[in-house]
Amino acid sequence: MSSITFPDGFLWGGATAANQLEGAYDEGGKGLSVQDVMPRGIVGARTAEPTPDNLKLVGIDFYHRYAEDIALFAKMGFTTFRFSIAWSRIFPQGDETEPNEEGLAFYDRVLDELEKHGIEPLVTISHYETPLHLAETYDGWTDRRLIGFYENYARTLFERYGARVKYWLTFNEINSLLHAPFMSGSINTPKEQLSEQQLYQAMHHELVASARATRIAREVAPNAQVGCMVLSMPVYPLSPSPADALEVMAFDHSNLVYGDVHTRGVYPGYFLRTLSEKGIELDITDEDRDDLTNTVDFVSFSYYMSVAATADPAKKATGEGNIMGGVPNPTLEASEWGWQIDPIGLRLVLNQFWDRWQKPLFIVENGLGAKDQLVEVDGVKTVIDDYRIAYLNDHLVQVGEAIADGVEVMGYTPWGCIDLVSASTAQLSKRYGFIYVDRNDDGSGTLERFEKKSFGWYAEVIRTNGAALTR
Ligand code: BG6
Repeated sequence: MSSITFPDGFLWGGATAANQLEGAYDEGGKGLSVQDVMPRGIVGARTAEPTPDNLKLVGIDFYHRYAEDIALFAKMGFTTFRFSIAWSRIFPQGDETEPNEEGLAFYDRVLDELEKHGIEPLVTISHYETPLHLAETYDGWTDRRLIGFYENYARTLFERYGARVKYWLTFNEINSLLHAPFMSGSINTPKEQLSEQQLYQAMHHELVASARATRIAREVAPNAQVGCMVLSMPVYPLSPSPADALEVMAFDHSNLVYGDVHTRGVYPGYFLRTLSEKGIELDITDEDRDDLTNTVDFVSFSYYMSVAATADPAKKATGEGNIMGGVPNPTLEASEWGWQIDPIGLRLVLNQFWDRWQKPLFIVENGLGAKDQLVEVDGVKTVIDDYRIAYLNDHLVQVGEAIADGVEVMGYTPWGCIDLVSASTAQLSKRYGFIYVDRNDDGSGTLERFEKKSFGWYAEVIRTNGAALTR
């Protein structure tokens, strides 16, 4: 069997999002974001105001400890670091015309620190943290005016950081909008009261905004490369029956449409059919159509799990999963949170996206959420997280296989490279990191950082450009 080879210049790093690690929710002139009123993640009800039980208000205090954390990433050998900019730090309400200088200055300092260590920034413009005011005043992305607010925000970022940041992602997991309208689309109206017409219109607004950001980047920051970001969820037929295969196609289409639009600049026929069968008529202007032609430079995606699909109503039960669940696959094991573990699914999805879009691919999230136990070994506090090492090793081996299949892969940034607050459940005990953070679900803890066993393992994988992986 040939050895696993990653291309020279492959970007190795880790991924985070502002609302899950920064904390300092009301410092530096920051306004409230939708996350500040989501103390239980997606599963729980939102609150009227921030409440002390919301772990995201303090996060892991990255706002004050970023220099220490980035030094730890550098110690692991990161060549890239994915983080998001909190929209409400830059435009506290979202609809102002002038940005908040204190917010901009914070990310200047983060970029200074990354530069010092030779780490390439990978910036998400919008990661589930839209200003709350936009949700409450406009009903979020259902309103066309959000395109203009986002445009102003994106332009501000490209003008300020365009010379220093090469890689940009427009919206995190843009295909989650229909599943999590408040978190993903800042849509205040409760999900049950939303019509499909409203949801698909919101989707259209985001797609236009994403393409418009790409257009602006071309004008303002010519060295920037802009990517879309989708939640990938490979799907298998539960049985070999053609009816199940058709379900697979429908599930796939509902997710692939986002990448299709981002890479081709038009809505695909199957999507137009769906709209017409649902009786939905989207408001699409000529300017929208023109904007959509600004296609992306690369496609990035998260990958945690796969699902199955069936036409049999008796078996349609939905299992746990990353925002969108699916039918559980009886051949796979699952994490403690019910997310089914499937390293081969990553190779499949890489091949599928490459064959379909022929754009370089960037794996910007992957990882295992698990409960960790802090122990002392030779007087040093650590976590013996062999389960995490096994998960990441097996997934990276499949990335190597996809590269051998001819897929162009730009880099790999596993999720939550430092422990942070979970998006779905808002827990800290659902940990992904190479670095343990002493903070618990009840908010207690010193916030001290400790290197887990996986820290040394990942450093070795990076140092050897993947040669240290085991099949
Ligand atoms: C993705 C999100 O859905 O999965 C992240 O982009 C999120 O924000 C990650 O944290 C892992 O999900 P969770 O719910 O375990 O935090």
